[in-house]
Amino acid sequence: MLAKVESLAFAGIDGYLVQIEVDLGGGIPSFEIVGLPDLAVREARDRVRAAIKNSGLEFYFHRITVNLAPANIKKEGSGFDLPIALGVLAAKGDVRDEKIGDSVFIGELALDGSVRPVAGMLVMALAARDAGKKYLVLPAANLNEVLVVTGIEPIPVENLHQACEFLNGNWVPQLFDANSFGGQVAAALELDEDLADVRGQEQAKRALEVAAAGGHNIMMAGPPGSGKTMLARRLPGILPTLCLEEAIEITKIYSVGGLLAPGNSLIQKRPFRAPHHTTSAAGLIGGGRIPRPGEVSLAHHGVLFLDELPEFPREVLEVLRQPLEDGKVTIARAASTLSFPAHFMLAASMNPCPCGFLNDPYKACSCSPVQIQRYQSRISGPLMDRFDIQIEVPRLQEYEYDSVQRGESSYEIRQRVEKARLRQRARFAGKSYYCNAQMSSKDIKKYCELDPAGRDLLRQAVQRFSLSARAYYRILKVARTIADLDESATIEIPHLAEAIQYRSLKEN
Ligand SMILES: Nc1ncnc2c1ncn2[C@@H]1O[C@H](COP(=O)(O)OP(=O)(O)OP(=O)(O)O)[C@@H](O)[C@H]1O
Ligand SMILES: [Mg+2]
Repeated sequence: MLAKVESLAFAGIDGYLVQIEVDLGGGIPSFEIVGLPDLAVREARDRVRAAIKNSGLEFYFHRITVNLAPANIKKEGSGFDLPIALGVLAAKGDVRDEKIGDSVFIGELALDGSVRPVAGMLVMALAARDAGKKYLVLPAANLNEVLVVTGIEPIPVENLHQACEFLNGNWVPQLFDANSFGGQVAAALELDEDLADVRGQEQAKRALEVAAAGGHNIMMAGPPGSGKTMLARRLPGILPTLCLEEAIEITKIYSVGGLLAPGNSLIQKRPFRAPHHTTSAAGLIGGGRIPRPGEVSLAHHGVLFLDELPEFPREVLEVLRQPLEDGKVTIARAASTLSFPAHFMLAASMNPCPCGFLNDPYKACSCSPVQIQRYQSRISGPLMDRFDIQIEVPRLQEYEYDSVQRGESSYEIRQRVEKARLRQRARFAGKSYYCNAQMSSKDIKKYCELDPAGRDLLRQAVQRFSLSARAYYRILKVARTIADLDESATIEIPHLAEAIQYRSLKEN
């Protein structure tokens, strides 16, 4: 008596199918699971036995052998409980097996037979769909996560009994179409923090607009209380809305991290992650025995905001360099190498020195040159070089405090950002990226052409500020974004000049 059922697992952000064979034999009763199971999988024996009994079905004493294949991959987690239980029941003949071949099953069992949610449902559902499966029998609590996956029918089950009833043809779930991408976007973008609340700082607001439009990294430096944190916290309000592909990529990461809020099928808002400076390198980059995405991946297609950048330990900051360049994080483990996407926009703030008043026209700086040097050296040159936009946020002038004029609202700024992003999407249609900041060097040549006067200007800037080759290309990308905001097909001198000016944060 042999039954075969299929289940799912994931590594990194990719799901794959797992074959489960259940054999019932005679002899001394036993229950063995083979095929590289981890502890949680081995404990499935006790949960499966109790769940079958408590679902009103009989659990005969048999010699049960369960084999998980492919045998060379370590099987983790508790999601195989439901398929193992159904395999046992199918081998006994308690459930019909016509639909088993077309289906995949996943879910953790509680002792009373109810089915508990699992992490990574979205990526596993995509794998099941790609394998051509017809039904996905999954925990009801995970249903929302898979509603965006078309081409496979979800069968959400509350308990083991329902799964049996489905296989026996006595029950089909009533699903309503909750897939309404776009419908909730407006609600998701409701704001409580508006850029109109920030007085003055017009240059910084413009820089944020450019950064948001093209996905560029931005660094704000200035004295205490000038509004840096306030400005950065208002970035989410001007970020462009997500396209469906981006939303799915983000949701996959949150799904494997087990971080999707219940009832959330699709993340429809760009992430804004602001980890504290006590965060470890592993927390930032991801890792762990079973690798989980870190802050850089959770900020994929969104913003990673590092407030008070020099307060982060230097070795923590240095791990950011690779993902900032490659747009992904690679984590090597003894058995395998995984990678998580990490295309994020880095926003950071810092004071110019420990007391914060270096170069302040009104207040003297009380730091010694050594202190200043030590403070600034916490951020390495290579990391600083990755900030496309570096601006000073000076203290407010008195007259700016009581100016009655209200600045532009986040809503108005976002309209321009959206338009610029639409131009970029059209430009990069068919490619695997969506904004200017992610352009490959080949595409920079193609889309960021300068006229002779522009080339001259950029050459002079490179000499004057002794810019690196990286800075050169990053200036071109920023100039492309500024031209997009200006609805210009070509990069003109004023666009380029503005981009260059964002590179000239005073070195002290
Ligand atoms: N431009 C501004 N318009 C309106 N309020 C401001 C402005 N700048 C600062 N404030 C007020 O000052 C408070 C502190 O600002 P914020 O925390 O952004 O300063 P910061 O530049 O991050 O300073 P620090 O370097 O000390 O972190 C804000 O909560 C706000 O109430
Ligand atoms: Mg601050």
